[in-house]
Amino acid sequence: GAVALTGLMAGSALAADMTVGFSQIGSESGWRAAETTLTKEQAEKRGIDLKFADAQQKQENQIKAIRSFIAQGVDAILLAPVVATGWDQVLEEAKDAEIPVVLLDRQVDSSDDLYLTAVGSDLEHEGEVAGQWLVDNVGDKDCNVVELQGTTGSSPAIKRKAGFEKAISGHDNIEIVRSQTGDFTRTKGKEVMESFLKAENGGKDICALYAHNDDMAVGAIQAIKEAGLKPGSDILVVSIDAVPDIFLAMAAGEANATVELTPNMAGPAFDALEAYKNDGTMPPKFIQTESKLFTQSDDPKAVYEEKKNQGY
Ligand code: AHR
Repeated sequence: GAVALTGLMAGSALAADMTVGFSQIGSESGWRAAETTLTKEQAEKRGIDLKFADAQQKQENQIKAIRSFIAQGVDAILLAPVVATGWDQVLEEAKDAEIPVVLLDRQVDSSDDLYLTAVGSDLEHEGEVAGQWLVDNVGDKDCNVVELQGTTGSSPAIKRKAGFEKAISGHDNIEIVRSQTGDFTRTKGKEVMESFLKAENGGKDICALYAHNDDMAVGAIQAIKEAGLKPGSDILVVSIDAVPDIFLAMAAGEANATVELTPNMAGPAFDALEAYKNDGTMPPKFIQTESKLFTQSDDPKAVYEEKKNQGY
């Protein structure tokens, strides 16, 4: 009867018929811009009608965008949540409207029955990999670290900090002496690094920089050079993302290591949504992407060329 028919119609929706709203954070970093490019590309390839909303770093704009997607009756919503808290209500609204939400790259602290799945990396593990690289490379030497954090309250800032601290704990020669947000941007990364350098004897008392993303590291590298020091040797530089520019810095000996984060979060997200729409396949609650460490010995020039063709 009516029930079976409704079920059949819902089950037969083809990906090509899907309209998906995407609430993106903004364009704070090269990685973020690549994620946007690849999401649009993936949607086009699959015949998905993508409605794109740039929140310019504001959660309130993301909430507005989600409400507008619900009002338009989209088939699904992609959300890259700028911060981790404050999503319960709007996610409830999407759930009540029976619109599945897929989280991209960042996480929320809401109950996981408020979204279909989350595609992303193990953010704490990334921080640990970065910290372990430093542990392995400073040996017994005393090492004062300065840290550039990502956007305050964002899951990558919280977890990348925790993971790094975990890796260096028990190594009393390594200490984080300064830690401040650089908002995941080059400009802020440079600005905050300038203040770190001033506060730490012109930089002479700093052994390493840990930046929660490559863009802040690139900004900081500039500040280190302007202070008359050599990034990559006077001050070791380890960061996260693996954007093309960090490989140029590595090739020049000015950056040491980065942990790769794929900007193609939309591929696995659309795969999950298509399967769910086509036959009700429930994806796992977390679809994890890989985290790989790159150093100066990984032929940074060649990786730079490869990366340039991957949405950047
Ligand atoms: O959420 C992922 C982080 O957001 C990236 O590492 C950073 O570059 C971006 O702004």
